[in-house]
Amino acid sequence: MSKPAIRVAVTGAAGQIGYALLFRIASGEMLGKDQPVILQLLEIPDEKAQKALKGVMMELDDCAFPLLQSMSAHSDPLEAFKDVEVALLVGSRPRGPGMERKDLLTINAQIFTAQGKALNQVANRQVKVLVVGNPANTNAYIAMKSAPDLPAKNFTAMLRLDHNRALSQLATKMAKPVAEIQKLAVWGNHSPTMYPDYRFATIGGQSVPAIINDETWNRETFLPTVGKRGAAIIEARGLSSAASAANAAIDHIHDWVLGTNGKWVTMGIPSDGTYGIPEGIMYGVPVTCEGGEYHRVTGLEIDAYSRERMDLTLKELLEERDGVADLLK
Ligand code: NAD
Ligand code: LMR
Repeated sequence: MSKPAIRVAVTGAAGQIGYALLFRIASGEMLGKDQPVILQLLEIPDEKAQKALKGVMMELDDCAFPLLQSMSAHSDPLEAFKDVEVALLVGSRPRGPGMERKDLLTINAQIFTAQGKALNQVANRQVKVLVVGNPANTNAYIAMKSAPDLPAKNFTAMLRLDHNRALSQLATKMAKPVAEIQKLAVWGNHSPTMYPDYRFATIGGQSVPAIINDETWNRETFLPTVGKRGAAIIEARGLSSAASAANAAIDHIHDWVLGTNGKWVTMGIPSDGTYGIPEGIMYGVPVTCEGGEYHRVTGLEIDAYSRERMDLTLKELLEERDGVADLLK
């Protein structure tokens, strides 16, 4: 007998990440090849966006996915989030010409306040929320703060793309298979201030920093390459990353729900004060997942350079938090 279907909400469903994401969710890559899903898709009420969403749903129909039990299109988050167990908050307002980061923060703060409140009202009490829309950490923080009746730990921000980018850069540098790298961490904000940290990483049981043995490469090549990869993709493609972002969202939820078998992955989660990160700040940390829960990796030694980098990305997150504080009153 087949399992009961899981309701999955995706916002920004007619956008470019949505287009790279929905087909993989419906084919079972996110929640398992034996797990039926119901897709509840949210787009802005705009006629063009709703029409485009209908087009995407026609294509989903045309795939005849055995695991896609049903799907629905919405413009109201209270309908889209009804009883959902997984919510992928992808839709947000991109930065336009002449817009300052602060303008973007304010506009998106309104979106994520409304969506947090809607989740609070109608989502399944165990809902797992992943915020992809930028600025992802602060949007996740806003949604969490707007949903006081849901456990704060259920709100997460996407740093998995940064984690995957870092893995790939390390594998290339060592000319070794990416799958063998373990114990990588990416600390902080999904922004160029993030700190990808391979001090603890191993490959085939050997120490990655010992193999690379080049601190200049770490600081002058690796860190800026991973930190500015989003901008490099925009420069090359003329559009921001979409397939790799969708892939990271699939990885994030897959691992959260189905576990990592002891492997470290990076998730933006509300801090509990560990590593000197103030409680509640949505900060990228290494975690392992088991039984549908994530567990932060604790007890790692933070050296002086790492402390400096971790504080720098924290400073940016504190500024973003202060920038939206008025909207959360
Ligand atoms: P896109 O512009 O192609 O699509 C976004 C969609 O969201 C649009 O269809 C838009 O109509 C919709 N939308 C806007 N406001 C909405 C709302 N309030 N409710 C529902 N839908 C809404 O953008 P994209 O390329 O799909 O990227 C989406 C977001 O993801 C952007 O903010 C982008 O910066 C971010 N992103 C994050 C990461 C990450 O690693 N965290 C990586 C890549 C992109
Ligand atoms: C990315 O990392 O690819 C996205 O967040 C896009 C961006 O604006 O950097």
